[in-house]
Amino acid sequence: MKIKTSEFVISAVGEDQCPVDGLPEICLAGRSNVGKSSLINKLLLRRNLARTSAQPGKTQTLNYYRINGEMYFVDFPGYGYAKVSKSQRQSWGKMVERFLRERKPLRLVLQLVDLRHPPSAEDCAMYEWLAHYGFPMCVVATKADKISKSQWPKHAKIIRTGLRMPGHVPLVLFSSETGMGRDELWSIIAQACGI
Ligand code: GTP
Ligand code: MG
Repeated sequence: MKIKTSEFVISAVGEDQCPVDGLPEICLAGRSNVGKSSLINKLLLRRNLARTSAQPGKTQTLNYYRINGEMYFVDFPGYGYAKVSKSQRQSWGKMVERFLRERKPLRLVLQLVDLRHPPSAEDCAMYEWLAHYGFPMCVVATKADKISKSQWPKHAKIIRTGLRMPGHVPLVLFSSETGMGRDELWSIIAQACGI
């Protein structure tokens, strides 16, 4: 995919603030700090378009990015951040759930998990929920640069098994540091958008 333009559009707190032009949307879900914003920057070859932070829980809204005037990435608030209050967590959960169920232009959900660790209970719950609703999905295992290449197959298997992913759901090993997985992910995204 050749990136001609990429721009931040809006931090939406609800669906009423989301774009109405109907361009295909790709959502990114995953726990806080897993690397959602970093992945967006890497895909778009932008250093800091999506704000990243070593401090988890930074992204708390639905952040829209428009690419080439032909699709949106939607960066979701991360789940599983312990320091966020229970009521705050519930209201995020509701927002995300409603969005996923009702959002018509949604073409693909990227669920990000950390390649280094077995999926958390929340990762599993999220995956199960998405799978139950039948969303087109791709699981992205982030931070691949943090473990040695020889360990990748073992860790990938732990993720597939932990999430109980059927063989047809793609698992992409990714690194925002090295760009590993970038081309593979772009081709999955382009296909989902019909480009
Ligand atoms: P929230 O917005 O809090 O939900 O977090 P996020 O999922 O957007 O994570 P973010 O992209 O901000 O990354 C969190 C931290 O992990 C940052 O310090 C990143 O530099 C680091 N990080 C993200 N992806 C990678 C990766 O592929 N490799 C390495 N080594 N570090 C990464
Ligand atoms: Mg973020």
